[in-house]
Amino acid sequence: YSTGSTNVTMQEHTVGRDQRADVIGRHEGFRGCTIWFTGLSGAGKTTVSFALEKALTQMGIPCYGLDGDNVRHGLCKNLGFSKDDRAENIRRVAEVAKLFADAGMVTLASFISPFRVDRDSAREIHKTSGLPFFEVYVDAPLEVCESRDPKDLYKKARKGQVQGMTGIDSAYEPPVAADLVLHSGKDSAEECVNNVLEFLVREGVVP
Ligand code: PPS
Ligand code: MG
Repeated sequence: YSTGSTNVTMQEHTVGRDQRADVIGRHEGFRGCTIWFTGLSGAGKTTVSFALEKALTQMGIPCYGLDGDNVRHGLCKNLGFSKDDRAENIRRVAEVAKLFADAGMVTLASFISPFRVDRDSAREIHKTSGLPFFEVYVDAPLEVCESRDPKDLYKKARKGQVQGMTGIDSAYEPPVAADLVLHSGKDSAEECVNNVLEFLVREGVVP
């Protein structure tokens, strides 16, 4: 990459969040925010966030799920799994999540996001723009994730066919102050989704 853009100036929009919300929302008011799911591969991030996306959509709440496996096919297709590449991955998707949230979406981000410093900067990116950011730890023990192994990644990592697998030969730093913890090793996906929905009601995101 080059060192970055110079001679760029922030341009002010002439419509604001309340006006966008009037246009897109069935429910009153601006609800844009980001719910950030972090956890090991196989913990249930995608399952919970996509089930939540369905539930919110059925309630008439505009939302969108951004998922690691998916954005790595496009926006982040030139990134791998080194520490630096994961940092850049999280930086890009945090900026995109911020834009979606600003547009009024309840944005569901499901990324391993194993490093605290990267999750903290994702939060900071939202805070700077005055957008709510909720960190949800999808907490399942490594043994459970490894026994699920839906993509055979742990199996391959144990055989040395996948390098830098989170939880095996790449670190996962658990959140120290998550806004919500889901015990997806013992609770069903449905229970986890209900826990997030109850949390969102308490936070005023869901009416
Ligand atoms: S990160 O760490 O946040 O940048 O990762 P993310 O963008 O969420 O992508 C994780 C998905 O990539 C697949 N995959 C791997 N995960 C972890 N470590 C290694 N080495 C790896 N290689 C490929 C895997 O399908 C992850 O999806 P989930 O849903 O977490 O299983
Ligand atoms: Mg996934």
